[in-house]
Amino acid sequence: MKIAVVGTGYVGLVTGTCLAETGNQVICVDVNQSKVKMMQEGMLPIYEPGLESLFTRNLKQGRLHFTTDLAEAVAEAKIIFLALPTPPGGDGAADLSYVLGASKDIAKLITEYKVIVTKSTVPVGTADKITDVFNAHTNVDYAVVSNPEFLREGVAVEDFMKPDRIVIGTLDERARKLMGELYAPYVRQGNPIIYMDPRSSELTKYAANSFLATKISFMNEIANLCELVGADVDMVRGGIGADDRIGRRFLFSGIGYGGSCFPKDVQALAKSAKDNQYDFKILNAVMDVNDIQRKILVDKIKAYYNNNLKGKKLAIWGLSFKPETDDIREAPALYIIEDLLKEGATITAFDPEAMTNVKGALGDKIEYAADQYQAAKDADALLILTEWSVFRTPDFDQLESSLKTKVIFDGRNLYDIQKMIDCGYYYNSIGRRV
Ligand code: UGA
Repeated sequence: MKIAVVGTGYVGLVTGTCLAETGNQVICVDVNQSKVKMMQEGMLPIYEPGLESLFTRNLKQGRLHFTTDLAEAVAEAKIIFLALPTPPGGDGAADLSYVLGASKDIAKLITEYKVIVTKSTVPVGTADKITDVFNAHTNVDYAVVSNPEFLREGVAVEDFMKPDRIVIGTLDERARKLMGELYAPYVRQGNPIIYMDPRSSELTKYAANSFLATKISFMNEIANLCELVGADVDMVRGGIGADDRIGRRFLFSGIGYGGSCFPKDVQALAKSAKDNQYDFKILNAVMDVNDIQRKILVDKIKAYYNNNLKGKKLAIWGLSFKPETDDIREAPALYIIEDLLKEGATITAFDPEAMTNVKGALGDKIEYAADQYQAAKDADALLILTEWSVFRTPDFDQLESSLKTKVIFDGRNLYDIQKMIDCGYYYNSIGRRV
């Protein structure tokens, strides 16, 4: 099938590449000329495990193309995916100007039936708004489909190629059939394609992310309570996760959720509820808890140093919002660093992938180390802020000889507490018995 993908950000690029992998002819369009040139020359602008080999293969075999020319992209495509940013506007609601702007341009270009698919996370009612734009600018037949993505950064290729489910929101029979054919190769494991109306599909995406964020905030509150009552959150997680109704996944307490999706989507859903005169109390609490949780490690550090961090040299392992990505958007590490700097601490940090992005964001406010042990050199304490595998089993002898004092604040609960105590560390993690 001939496919166009408008927007080559994270979602667009993964979608385009993975759709080419099953034999479709995919043309991706972006306004950013240098980025398009880079991709035409075979370079990927993002880090995502597994993406590079698929990208290179499909580019070489001529199934994946890049252009800045929307008309070229739209001309032959039967299905046009919109994978454009929907950043939070000033009031927390998603800003639809990119999506609606592109819709207008596409509407003016089409000369035959096309299926327009929203892949970006868009508020309920966006498909109707796109329909209005098309009705105002074309007489050609078209269909609008909501097809939210459920990709996790770091495992996006796997999520795309073997999805738990595909949600397709449309009332147009022809579009439904085409979308079903397009996704058939991806659901061979028997996972469902779930068809529904566009509004339910749009809400499904927000509901999924908000529910997952709720799970995390709930567990973070359980962790905080564990510390007060002398319980251990790892035990409690195991105990409740064994119940199928709760499930084992997404129950890890830590330093709050981050990334480009959860914070934005929870906020947008709460706002959209409010706009519809509904006070979504749980979501407000989920956000409040997350704000507090992002500060929890700073509170622990301040308490340990009697509220005086002046002149303390702190090492940080992990800056990205989660492992296997260089993405630092809404990364808890950035909030923690700002707070520690305000308290007068100095910071040396290391991250396996996110250093360039952090240098761009923080400049010379902190120091950057070439590896994890160099970051720990002469530090008063080590802070673990992202659970990269390389931090899970470090060379403890090398760590010990690097640190000035054996103090670790672990925001990701990586190490066995007893082992750390036996090795002479002061070790403080989240929600666990010390
Ligand atoms: C999330 C969803 O998981 C995807 O299904 C969705 O498609 C995507 O948003 C999106 O809307 O585009 P992502 O933001 O890549 O994916 O990352 P997650 O793996 O979901 O992690 C989000 C945050 O939650 C991270 O900060 C992570 O550290 C935190 N988290 C996750 C926890 O604190 N505890 C957990 O148990 C799990």
